[in-house]
Amino acid sequence: MCGIVGIVGKEPVAERLVDALRRLEYRGYDSAGVATIHDGAMDRRRAEGKLFNLEKKLAGEPLPGTIGIAHTRWATHGVPNETNAHPHFVEGVAVVHNGIIENFSELRDELTAEGAVFTSQTDTEVVAHLLAKFTREGMGHRDAMLAMLNRVTGAYALVVMFQDDPGTILSARFGPPLAVGHGRGEMFLGSDAIALAPFTNQITYLVDGDCAVLTANGVTITDFAGKPVERPIQISQAAALMVDKGNHRHFMEKEIYEQPEIISHALSHYVDFASGSIKQKAEAIDFAKLRSLAISACGTAYLSGLVGKYWFERYARLPVEIDVASEFRYRDIPLSKDQAALFISQSGETADTLASLRYCKEEGLPIGAVVNVKESTIAREADAIFPILAGPEIGVASTKAFTCQLAVLAALSIQAGRARGILTEAQEKELVRHLIEMPRIMSKVLNLIQPQIEQLSRDLSRFKDVLYLGRGTSYPLAMEGALKLKEISYIHAEGYAAGELKHGPIALIDEHMPVIVIAPHDRFFEKTVSNMQEVAARGGKIIFITDEKGAAASKLATMATIVLPNVDEVIAPMIFALPIQLLAYHTAVFMGTDVDQPRNLAKSVTVE
Ligand code: AGP
Repeated sequence: MCGIVGIVGKEPVAERLVDALRRLEYRGYDSAGVATIHDGAMDRRRAEGKLFNLEKKLAGEPLPGTIGIAHTRWATHGVPNETNAHPHFVEGVAVVHNGIIENFSELRDELTAEGAVFTSQTDTEVVAHLLAKFTREGMGHRDAMLAMLNRVTGAYALVVMFQDDPGTILSARFGPPLAVGHGRGEMFLGSDAIALAPFTNQITYLVDGDCAVLTANGVTITDFAGKPVERPIQISQAAALMVDKGNHRHFMEKEIYEQPEIISHALSHYVDFASGSIKQKAEAIDFAKLRSLAISACGTAYLSGLVGKYWFERYARLPVEIDVASEFRYRDIPLSKDQAALFISQSGETADTLASLRYCKEEGLPIGAVVNVKESTIAREADAIFPILAGPEIGVASTKAFTCQLAVLAALSIQAGRARGILTEAQEKELVRHLIEMPRIMSKVLNLIQPQIEQLSRDLSRFKDVLYLGRGTSYPLAMEGALKLKEISYIHAEGYAAGELKHGPIALIDEHMPVIVIAPHDRFFEKTVSNMQEVAARGGKIIFITDEKGAAASKLATMATIVLPNVDEVIAPMIFALPIQLLAYHTAVFMGTDVDQPRNLAKSVTVE
């Protein structure tokens, strides 16, 4: 998704704006630009591709000025080129935008009919033309802003400058996030607190319907009718969590290897290590009274929820209705007040997940949010927040957030099992003991399998199609493995329930498509081995991910067998996530793709 930054102050801003954009790169983008005002003149530099290209332009043609706005664009309307890059200029108005102006087409027709000349294919440009029109008609800048906000529909974070007012930045939020940073004699705007971390940790998060006007001395916030509203200043942790790659080649590699430490920290929020029990959270969700639980999320977060479904149903006998958020919100699911809804989101800003949350909230359900960003919109709108405490996840492909989501869901399903009288105290302690052991086992596994995986990834990179199979909680893992591989190596991959092989996918099996089988020696092992025999009988190549017991039990010839320690079923998904993460990572590195910012992808999808 697009990244937005603005600064109004006393020092030159161009370089600081580009540095802030660099901290938003993880959101994914395909062009960038910056605009400043100096000596009464507004000017801009824009470039296609990565920030390096924009920096080259600025080196050759510096932009002076102590007020400016900047943008990284993830194309929605119009190809990713310089013409469509933001900021967009019209008659002394500059605009940057994250989101979608849904009525841009009718506005474009209306403005064109009035003589407006459009120079880009973007929806954003209509905002600049509307502001120019309203100021031409005599409105002040704030009134022009409010008039524009009452004409556009859709989802947007907007930041605006007027050439004839070099001391003011105007902004508005309806959907994608926008944060105000409070400095000394200067003020900031950013898509999130990470972008503003080097400038300030004093952050005001705008909410939908806020219009914020910044000068060097402060901010005034109103609603879209111009009525003042109060928003608190919070101290952001993002500054403390300023991230770099350390001695890793990519953020993704760093985030894979920091999982043992991170998950141990996350668990400490839910597990009492001394008593070996789950810390009962007096949350707004009373698992004892629930008839069922609805879970909704997107992508990897959805797949962690799918694992959670198995756990809630097994350990708490709590029926779970789960769907991807883009389907959940339109299914008109009959919901009742003896249900609760749980939304899982690393960023806490995913548009579809947020819309599903609001649907359930309107139906009167208590809302839980399993999130990584506690100041996010999804967290703020939930009744109960279950933080995953994974720290900023910069790699677009989710890794540590996935395993932390799993750890939190495991803890919540055990808590629910106790609350509903399904698990005895002894059973709780046994499950918690496995959770407590998990970080140590993860550390051991990462060191154990790294050389073999790196070698195997060279072979895997030769193929165009890959099939992942799993049963039970290994079935969502099969889908997660496929998602990881395709989103960073661009190899087509599918994750399937192993039991479904004979219902179609077996037609694909030949020596050109490796089949990655995820199979700890659990209740389903023998059935999965039968599936492997069906694959082998048709010349299929098998990559077998199992444990010591599984490796000893299966005599099948494979392309490779990755052997993990024997672990309890409750932590198998977190342990078996490691080889599928590493396999995708090393395959992508070998293929030379942009591992941390894969093509076409954004870290947080804040538009539908
Ligand atoms: C994960 O590898 C993907 N990048 C993507 O599927 C992601 O999980 C999904 O967009 C949901 O994001 P969220 O957790 O921030 O809501």
